[in-house]
Amino acid sequence: AKDPVRVLVTGAAGQIGYALVPMIARGVMLGADQPVILHMLDIPPAAEALNGVKMELVDAAFPLLKGVVATTDAVEACTGVNVAVMVGGFPRKEGMERKDVMSKNVSIYKSQASALEKHAAPNCKVLVVANPANTNALILKEYAPSIPEKNISCLTRLDHNRALGQISERLNVQVSDVKNVIIWGNHSSSQYPDVNHATVATPAGDKPVRELVADDAWLNGEFISTVQQRGAAIIKARKLSSALSAASSACDHIRDWVLGTPEGTWVSMGVYSDGSYNVPAGLIYSFPVTCKNGEWSIVQGLSIDEFSRKKLDATAEELSEEKALAYSCLT
Ligand code: NAI
Repeated sequence: AKDPVRVLVTGAAGQIGYALVPMIARGVMLGADQPVILHMLDIPPAAEALNGVKMELVDAAFPLLKGVVATTDAVEACTGVNVAVMVGGFPRKEGMERKDVMSKNVSIYKSQASALEKHAAPNCKVLVVANPANTNALILKEYAPSIPEKNISCLTRLDHNRALGQISERLNVQVSDVKNVIIWGNHSSSQYPDVNHATVATPAGDKPVRELVADDAWLNGEFISTVQQRGAAIIKARKLSSALSAASSACDHIRDWVLGTPEGTWVSMGVYSDGSYNVPAGLIYSFPVTCKNGEWSIVQGLSIDEFSRKKLDATAEELSEEKALAYSCLT
């Protein structure tokens, strides 16, 4: 039998946490033959609720779940973890300035970076979900210099999956037949959902999405804004932000990273830019990636038209501003 993998979920008493931990314990993230030990971290005001989640995990009697650590101590939470899913953060409350929210999250990610760097297992893979996800991941990277940058990522897979969902609904095809959409840039409304390389599997072979949809006005307009604004639409409908889809996408992100992407398929991940596609190096930016042997690599050589170029640059510009704001909070 395989040794258990230790998976950290921060903010585990929150709503994404509540949807995510049972998925991990059922093998959705790491496979149905991979035992896991869950490490759950939250803050003292949520300690009792966190303990309630732990009680439910015991009650669910998951065969793959070999242990649960539920704690408000970051060092205990981070010790020995192989995968870290960072969901905990400070939400924007009414009347708060962007800088105040940034400042709270920068200090959280700075201190959790140190705990991970000192206590996580070697080669721990880190996924930041909490917003501002790209910039929190960048702060984590900067304050955990011994964790290789290839091990730090942020979640844009939810946006990627939303784009697949919109194309599937529009064409009335199975979502599993649609592939290779791309989310470029920031996990924010400046992100660019790009279908220029996306295809649909048909009985006559793979066909370009652009050809099948045959409506550039929709693809360049409403499609993009629907994906960009989907989070807000969910909040409006549910009076709560997306949790089940965020949790499911976090599992997709880690599963593909660890177990590999299928041949010919790429996914979107927020990763440290090396300057590919003329995206400024040193930002955590969402790119199309393939994964193999536990490592991602950015898909190279895709053509970028003028429309796309502007959108790639605009979301990079926003990330550069966020980075500057984050650094101004550090001094
Ligand atoms: P929530 O407010 O229900 O849960 C957040 C949890 O984090 C709470 O239990 C809170 O006590 C905890 N927390 C706060 N500070 C902490 C710290 N320093 N250490 C550990 N835990 C801490 O929020 P929800 O709905 O679960 O969302 C979590 C985050 O994920 C938010 O920042 C949200 O904006 C973000 N998000 C990101 C998505 C993405 O695609 N990247 C999609 C949906 C949400």
